[in-house]
Amino acid sequence: MLRGGKVGLRARHEADVPVLQAELHGDVVNASRAAGRPWRPFAPGSQDGPFALSEPEEATVPFSVVELDGGALVGSAMLWGIDTHNRSAHLGVGLLPAARGKGYGTDVVAVLCHYGFVVRGLHRLQVDTLADNTAMLRSAERNGFVREGVLRSAAWVMGEFLDEVFLGLLAEDWKPAARG
Ligand SMILES: CC(C)(COP(=O)(O)OP(=O)(O)OC[C@H]1O[C@@H](n2cnc3c(N)ncnc32)[C@H](O)[C@@H]1OP(=O)(O)O)[C@@H](O)C(=O)NCCC(=O)NCCS
Repeated sequence: MLRGGKVGLRARHEADVPVLQAELHGDVVNASRAAGRPWRPFAPGSQDGPFALSEPEEATVPFSVVELDGGALVGSAMLWGIDTHNRSAHLGVGLLPAARGKGYGTDVVAVLCHYGFVVRGLHRLQVDTLADNTAMLRSAERNGFVREGVLRSAAWVMGEFLDEVFLGLLAEDWKPAARG
């Protein structure tokens, strides 16, 4: 397990899937805001669902997020779009509603940076989020990500176009947090 100050990132377990599917994908508004594609329902156990266990892929590394204190499941995290030529990847995070606003998101970003820069030897990490997602923007900025651009009206979300923000962090600018 990769350990931060408050949370750990471990492999996705089969028992995590229905919880993540119900609490993250089942929330149509939040799932639509995070996904970048139209929401649709998935039956329990569906192999097409966003949190289904799958064979390892080169470009995507999914994790489940757990509390270090007790091991309770609190969300999902991933490195996606891993590009081994340009040595870059994107970060994704989704916390269960009860786990938000406690500093876990900031900690997850820190652990994903450790995984990306130290474990994988990447040079650039990117966060893509909606311009009004203050919690995600701050979680990234707290870890040294800087806003690099705005794509105006790039995302169709629940009946309106919203701006999307890209933030980037380079390995040489990263200051690792003290690790638990
Ligand atoms: C985005 C998310 C991962 C952030 O994690 P979190 O644990 O809630 O965030 P933290 O508690 O670490 O807070 C980070 C910062 O955001 C601020 N913040 C947290 N929730 C906030 C909210 N609802 N509104 C405004 N600011 C908020 C905190 O005050 C903190 O700011 P600071 O660094 O200036 O003190 C989490 O809220 C989440 O899973 N949201 C739903 C899914 C999602 O949007 N995923 C990202 C898709 S790109």
